[in-house]
Amino acid sequence: MAKTKSIHGEWSSRFAYILAATGSAVGLGNIWKFPYITGENGGGAFVLVYLGCVLAIGIPIMIAETLMGRRGRQSPINTLRDLSAEAGVSPHWQYLGWMGVVAGVLILSYYSVIAGWAIAYVFKAFFGGFSADAAIVKSSFDNLVASPGQLIFWHSVFMVATISVVMRGVKGGLEKAVLLLMPALLALLFLLVAYAMTTGEYYFQGLSFLFSPDFSEIDSDAVLTAMGHAFFTLGLGMGAIMVYGSYMPKGISIVKTSLYIAGADTIVALLAGIAIFPLVFANGLEPGSGPGLIFQTLPIAFGNMTGGWLFGVLFFVLLVFAALTSSISLVEPIVAWLVENKGVSRAKASVISGGAIWALGVSVALSFNSWSDVKIFDKTIFNFLDYLTANLMLPIGGFCIAVFAGWLMHQKDVRNELNLPDQQYEIWKFLVSYIAPAAVFIVFLHVLGLF
Ligand code: PFF
Repeated sequence: MAKTKSIHGEWSSRFAYILAATGSAVGLGNIWKFPYITGENGGGAFVLVYLGCVLAIGIPIMIAETLMGRRGRQSPINTLRDLSAEAGVSPHWQYLGWMGVVAGVLILSYYSVIAGWAIAYVFKAFFGGFSADAAIVKSSFDNLVASPGQLIFWHSVFMVATISVVMRGVKGGLEKAVLLLMPALLALLFLLVAYAMTTGEYYFQGLSFLFSPDFSEIDSDAVLTAMGHAFFTLGLGMGAIMVYGSYMPKGISIVKTSLYIAGADTIVALLAGIAIFPLVFANGLEPGSGPGLIFQTLPIAFGNMTGGWLFGVLFFVLLVFAALTSSISLVEPIVAWLVENKGVSRAKASVISGGAIWALGVSVALSFNSWSDVKIFDKTIFNFLDYLTANLMLPIGGFCIAVFAGWLMHQKDVRNELNLPDQQYEIWKFLVSYIAPAAVFIVFLHVLGLF
């Protein structure tokens, strides 16, 4: 019998849940990662594959992951243990929860370093460090990334912020913070899009880069990156949305809330792309210049605007908050597990996991400078962790979640959680049982050269 409440408490309303889950979804993935991987993978065709993955794979799996969380009402590891007992399948399914915990730890170790760049940019903007000259902006970014001390310092600031929020419980302050943050972030993105429009022909060049697909630009690895990004940006495949679902009161529609969250997430990513690519072209920059892309373009826009320093400060503050509302969802699964199974307080659990993640993050910070020669499978530590988690662990986790909800759980339990009219239920069931797992599988076969 499903539990009716989590020991960790509940969201205060449907709206609070939407805010928190949107906070988990919208983050660096939308504003930092989406533009740079789109640039690296040739634009329109990549965007189309990503949007297709959000629709056909991401949304059905988001529904599955949330319903599993709400039914299990615990950390993903314990939820999977109980749900596998309920479904009468092997208790080994709890290792799926473990893989999620590991993925969360690995993701946050590099996520925090990048969020640190954003914090550094708040101060750069404030002290007048933004310039209308692309070369100055680029060298300022290069200087930051070349400095181990600065990267480790800002990464530490972000980890301390993450831990102090998680310690207080994800529900307290979070709901209110996100309520302010999301509209403000959207407003600033619109301002940046308006600025991009002033670049005239480059605005249209940016739009055409994003929205005219040229399939000769992408190969199987680009398709894998697009699919992996659909998981990353929606925060799927590792238990983050599962643990948030476990705090969701009964009676709230999982399908509707998932559609809102995915919709909001996609809009933010597309707006970021529309704001950035015109600047890339107007300033003769390379769309494929990598993880520094937004840090080398947006300061030019702020450097050009009257009062740009203020908008710059605001924008990067909001970006840091967006990163924070995602980072807390990345540690919540492990913290919830430590509280449930090890009997430690939430505060202690947060400090232990945060400390370990911080230490790993130091090696990521160094991989941009002193350790840039250290390679794992031919990739720097940062690139390796990003590839391993976003392109492999999250899709594998998502695949298993789809199989679990689509094939193993008793359908009456699933129906009970979803509470959908028959026809809509059948559509979801078809997507989650066949389309989503098959798509992930085929992309993997393709990358391995087997299909
Ligand atoms: N969705 C977040 C972003 O786009 O920045 C990152 C993220 C959060 C990934 C939660 C995975 C996750 F479980």
